[in-house]
Amino acid sequence: MSAPRKLFIKSFGCQMNVYDSERMSEALAAAGYVAAEGADDADMILLNTCHIREKATEKIYSELGRFRPLKDARPDLKIGVTGCVAQAEGAEIFARQPMVDLVVGPQSYHRLPELERKIQTGERALDTDFPREDKFDHLPKRSQAARGPTAFLTVQEGCDKFCAFCVVPYTRGAEFSRPAGRVMAEARELVARGVREITLLGQNVNAYHGHEGGLAGLIRELAGIDELARIRFTTSHPSDMSDSLIAAFGEVAKLMPYLHLPVQSGSDTVLKAMNRRHTAEQYKRVVERIRAARPDILISGDFIVGFPGETEAHFEDTLALVEEVEYGQAYSFKYSPRAGTPAAELKGVDDAVKDERLQRLQAILNRQQRTAQESMVGRTVNVLFERPGRLTGQVVGKSEYLHAVHVDDGQAGVGEIRSVQINASGSNSLSGEVLQG
Ligand code: SAH
Ligand code: SF4
Ligand code: F3S
Repeated sequence: MSAPRKLFIKSFGCQMNVYDSERMSEALAAAGYVAAEGADDADMILLNTCHIREKATEKIYSELGRFRPLKDARPDLKIGVTGCVAQAEGAEIFARQPMVDLVVGPQSYHRLPELERKIQTGERALDTDFPREDKFDHLPKRSQAARGPTAFLTVQEGCDKFCAFCVVPYTRGAEFSRPAGRVMAEARELVARGVREITLLGQNVNAYHGHEGGLAGLIRELAGIDELARIRFTTSHPSDMSDSLIAAFGEVAKLMPYLHLPVQSGSDTVLKAMNRRHTAEQYKRVVERIRAARPDILISGDFIVGFPGETEAHFEDTLALVEEVEYGQAYSFKYSPRAGTPAAELKGVDDAVKDERLQRLQAILNRQQRTAQESMVGRTVNVLFERPGRLTGQVVGKSEYLHAVHVDDGQAGVGEIRSVQINASGSNSLSGEVLQG
């Protein structure tokens, strides 16, 4: 028998790509591939790409350029582009980078083994269909091998919201929820392999409707799996925070007190132009209700500065909203025009203005983030330990609020959940002592 071929997948963009990369490697394992150590010893390299901002897309082309010498040295090496750039640019990728063998969009991964056979004959393969069948039903059953204590599980894909700036409805297609029975079966398999925390994923995960009780119903059912200790979900849209989901934060002990709830802007004029379907006031009321259900919850957000038409006064409304909400964590971006989206047609804000606004916003968000992290010093948190720390002699995990927490080796093992007394806050993580007992 010939040696197995080796596969190297590099994932960019959001957590859904991380999950998809795992499923792709499982699909190709069925075709005889094993994991490569890195790009250098791979027989096939897949870049699972992100198209959300121009920079993300350009990164893929520079990354491809770096593989050129590898391909020159070993013409048998196969190179593929998967994910959202593949969907958006399709055959254009072959034109810009002729060494690419394979281009596959996010809804066609189950066809990878068949496409792989095609490229082995020396042909190119392109598949950017949105097939009627559900890719998850056609992917092989997940591997039984033991794995780390945390896992992502995609329950919902695509988006019907069409925010004026966003490519996701075009790259991932229409909103689709996986049936709860399938999600529950996959969750049980993950737990049997050692997983103790599951993060449910969807571009609009709180619009999930594969369970009669919606996302809240699914979470309550998942909480019934004994060995599953923690449940999280991301990303949520403010207009889809139902009463039952808000109530779950107060009622389901396994649902962790952390919520990523992007708002993008604090100005109603900008929110309307963005087609966000809610006002700043409605957003703040939703946050208030969530905090009433779970007072210690840590709220995280996404912001875009310099959307077309954003004035200094509009931007100050965003700063005011941030001051009022108090974020524990946040991501902020300069608006990036994306071909094919409605906002790309509008006259943009000057780049220097965008830079200046981003700096001012990030100064406040960073301060809030630091305050939230430092407020943990002196408190006892529960930590699920995930892996050895970067510094030897340490083990690192996440608190219920998603802060990274380090303790000295020997105090806790990977996969354990322990109470930790926090005694210091560093630049990006906390450290403390495991409480015995
Ligand atoms: N589905 C999620 C997030 C999608 S993309 C949601 O609705 O919130 C992740 C983040 O990227 C967005 O929240 C937004 O802040 C940012 N983003 C999306 N398109 C962008 C663009 N064209 N320019 C800059 N940032 C963008
Ligand atoms: Fe993009 Fe808006 Fe959909 Fe989020 S809700 S994925 S920002 S279109
Ligand atoms: Fe990027 Fe696609 Fe995710 S564009 S953010 S990888 S859905």
